[in-house]
Amino acid sequence: MPADSASDVTPAAARARAARLRGELRRHEHLYYVRDEPEISDAEFDALLRELQRLEARHPQLITPDSPSQRVGGAPREGVEKAAHSSAMLSLDNALDDAGLADFDRRARELAGADVLDYVGELKLDGLSMAVRFRAAGAAADSRLALALSRGDGVEGEVITPNARTLRSLPLSVPAAALAAHGVPPEFEVRGEVVMPTEAFAVLNARQAAEGKPRFANPRNAAAGSLRWLDAAVTAARRLDFYPYLLLAAGRPVFASHWQALEALAALGFKVNRARERLRGVDGLRRFRDTWLPRREELPYEIDGLVFKVDSVDLQRRLGATSKSPRWAIACKPATQQVETVVEDVDVHVGRTGALTPRARLRPVRVGGVTVSHATLHNEDEIGRLGLRIGDTVLVERSGDVIPRVVRVVREGADRRPFALPPRCPACGGAVAREQGEAVARCVNVSCVARLKESILHFARRTALDVDGVGEWLVDALVDGGLVQDLADLYDLRVERLAGLTKRTKVTPARLGEKSAARVVAGLERSKQAPLGRLVFGLGIRHVGERTAALLAERFRGLDAIAAASSEALEEVEEVGPRIAESVRAYFASSRNRDLIERLRAHGLRFDEPEGAAVDPALPLAGKVFVLTGALAGMSRDEAQARIEAAGGRVRGSVSRNTDYVVAGDKPGSKLRKAEQLGVAVLDEAGLLEMLSAGGPPPDGA
Ligand code: IVH
Repeated sequence: MPADSASDVTPAAARARAARLRGELRRHEHLYYVRDEPEISDAEFDALLRELQRLEARHPQLITPDSPSQRVGGAPREGVEKAAHSSAMLSLDNALDDAGLADFDRRARELAGADVLDYVGELKLDGLSMAVRFRAAGAAADSRLALALSRGDGVEGEVITPNARTLRSLPLSVPAAALAAHGVPPEFEVRGEVVMPTEAFAVLNARQAAEGKPRFANPRNAAAGSLRWLDAAVTAARRLDFYPYLLLAAGRPVFASHWQALEALAALGFKVNRARERLRGVDGLRRFRDTWLPRREELPYEIDGLVFKVDSVDLQRRLGATSKSPRWAIACKPATQQVETVVEDVDVHVGRTGALTPRARLRPVRVGGVTVSHATLHNEDEIGRLGLRIGDTVLVERSGDVIPRVVRVVREGADRRPFALPPRCPACGGAVAREQGEAVARCVNVSCVARLKESILHFARRTALDVDGVGEWLVDALVDGGLVQDLADLYDLRVERLAGLTKRTKVTPARLGEKSAARVVAGLERSKQAPLGRLVFGLGIRHVGERTAALLAERFRGLDAIAAASSEALEEVEEVGPRIAESVRAYFASSRNRDLIERLRAHGLRFDEPEGAAVDPALPLAGKVFVLTGALAGMSRDEAQARIEAAGGRVRGSVSRNTDYVVAGDKPGSKLRKAEQLGVAVLDEAGLLEMLSAGGPPPDGA
């Protein structure tokens, strides 16, 4: 449609055209931000949007609050400035298996003329790459974040400086003295990955769904959709992290070794991923791979593999790059592979909550360089769905790092026999029950050894009490040796008792050295200071995940208060419904658990959460809790949230007695009714704006 036709069309035609344009624009926004698969260029998108804006300007009655023209900042992509990278931002070549790693190592060694090389292993975070430049205004001045660029086409990136400034893990300036102390020039560049933590992704998607907006397909797309907004308030309202992986000055490495660069970045206050290691030779590469790929699910963000880099920068320079990727670095990306094999039997694994999980024991097969002998079958229903019987030939899939799973039955075995879950727990002989409506059968014995082992592993995991060095075999040794009968016993462990513990594994007997024993004890000591939310999570209360635990801690501020809370009080916490409340109550009602808690207290674990120290009490809305409902005319919800948070307030998803204000826009939902029931103050948009600009609530708080 010609650009100036908007003036002379009939109102009906204008309405139809506007509706069509909106539909088109929404579809392209979805393709771009959600799926990251744009079909049209930014210029074409902008042309469509401008046409809609012209039409709406001439026929204001056609404007709807949800029109793409009403988004904060208007066109999300319009007017994005570009700038050249200091040197090309390349991508990485992949090594899919052992042979690929060996090839990479061989080529590097040949060029170096060395028998064995040093490498650095890192995680390959699944986000967006960003280059950030720091500059000092004058001699001895601090270096400030001056420019942030997205990868773009690798040669030229988009300027996203205001967005980058909202990432809390990225320092905005670095003291001149620190730079001098670590040998980094005042003008330097950091390249790294912007990621959205999986938990923030879940929260964002829940919010998107509650607001009737499309969900993001994965954290990477959500990060992309959050970082590229023209209006940095949108970026600010979402939790993104920046993990650096390269340090440059004038487009070149600063140090002689890559490892040194990472250490310097960490010392300067950047969030360098702790999962990094200096590795020797191809064996080191394999070991790092076998350590980290299986732990992928435990990480608080998604990774799409690992990265190995030649440590010597001089050697990096000599190895050079192809037009696409450097020859001194390689990504180790597990490919999804499928193979056929025979199910020889079905074992049963007992989990922390007593859940019995059937596991197929397979005739061992090689999949992607690894021998697979087990695959998860989830539960009895899944076995039914697959129509699986022992003796059948199945298709097994392995995405390299995750637990292999059975995709389908390929051929029925000649003497196939059905599998049934045992009537008693295979680990302790205790009774097994399957609750109504549940797919899972459970061992009901709370002192079941298998359950205890899993509880310890859960307690020690990174997102819980984060105790280093507590792995499967150590837990086996501790429990089987009678050293640990419940979680509190962990805190009685001493280095002398731990050192020398042995466990016969299939290959060689493993033995805990003095150093590792000391590491475990130190980790336990450190864990006593873990924030309350992690302790609550670590206790392993059914249905209480990491986020719910954090919310409970934030609300009740003490383990005793959580233990004493009524169901109603628990349900006032966001995301806590009757099921979770019931489970929390049941946990603390058990005398056995109460006993455990007392012993943990005696060991000095932290049971309280200091009052929210993070919020500056001088901020106008410090400590005030807001709930938004309905559409606001002048700002998006994300923007409203960002502005409230910037003023020290908090935004929650549901109304409770703890809510200070409900902000009601157009077509408010049940939250308004709930506010009225509970007598919570209700603001309209003008009231909110007034509060934001007046610098706080009026003295009477209404
Ligand atoms: S190094 C020239 N290290 O993977 C080498 N990249 O396909 C530059 N990535 O676009 C990359 N984690 O965004 C490197 N630890 C890491 C990484 C990493 C994620 C991304 C990066 C790049 C892509 C390469």
